[in-house]
Amino acid sequence: MPQSDALARLWPASAVRVRAGDLELRWIDDDLLVELSELAGRGIHDPDMMPFQRPWSRGSADEVARSVLAYQWGIRNRISPTAFVLELAVVEAGTPVGVQGLTAEDWPALRNVTTGSWLGRAHQGRGIGTRMRMLALHLAFEGLDAQEAMSGAFADNGASNAVSERVGYDRDGAFHVAREGVAVPHNRYVMSRERWESVRSDHARRLGGDVELHGIAGLRAQLEPTSADAGGPQH
Ligand SMILES: CC(C)(COP(=O)(O)OP(=O)(O)OC[C@H]1O[C@@H](n2cnc3c(N)ncnc32)[C@H](O)[C@@H]1OP(=O)(O)O)[C@@H](O)C(=O)NCCC(=O)NCCS
Repeated sequence: MPQSDALARLWPASAVRVRAGDLELRWIDDDLLVELSELAGRGIHDPDMMPFQRPWSRGSADEVARSVLAYQWGIRNRISPTAFVLELAVVEAGTPVGVQGLTAEDWPALRNVTTGSWLGRAHQGRGIGTRMRMLALHLAFEGLDAQEAMSGAFADNGASNAVSERVGYDRDGAFHVAREGVAVPHNRYVMSRERWESVRSDHARRLGGDVELHGIAGLRAQLEPTSADAGGPQH
């Protein structure tokens, strides 16, 4: 049995794929992770801006790459019935171009996902950020039966705010977040399930057709409580 088949059986989230046309979200295996880390090392934004609350994207190329490796290795096992962090590679026509993440806490009660993302600079400004958010929302609402999706961006991050507006979120207020020692306005966005129902056909049109979901039954099963959750061994 190929190793990927065994991994998909043991860790179903590893088989998740979301695709429309030449754009795909997929589990970040170690080969993809090295490519994505080096991509991040080549730069994600101008040095005079900072899109992230924790400034992990500052430093030498190798420091930034190492930070991506450490983060991704650190969260890879965080898929559980109560909460998950699902970080997916964004692959355009076979080339890894960035990361699209979906996180959830108190998932069974809230069914609320929060998204976060980045693209290598060479891949920005061509509509990929908009399309990958649409794929993430499709995975959340159609694949996982989410009831609500949230996102947020510093007010000075034009592209990220534009993506949230473009895909149809509602504004959900603003507050200040400390960024590199300074209080900076940060916008919040929310998309209800009702809102999703009203925008998804527009998304499908903009994605150029149907969104294909793979590996979702396995992921959903991995998010179901098991007997281990009722008192199995603690690692
Ligand atoms: C945010 C990000 C994922 C968006 O992806 P992208 O592929 O660059 O965005 P798109 O090409 O889909 O453009 C989205 C919209 O932003 C607009 N836009 C781009 N740069 C902008 C700017 N500086 N100010 C205002 N709008 C801007 C585009 O015109 C487009 O709007 P339109 O569809 O109405 O034309 C990407 O730019 C990125 O990775 N940035 C650095 C990391 C980051 O900010 N991550 C998010 C943290 S919250």
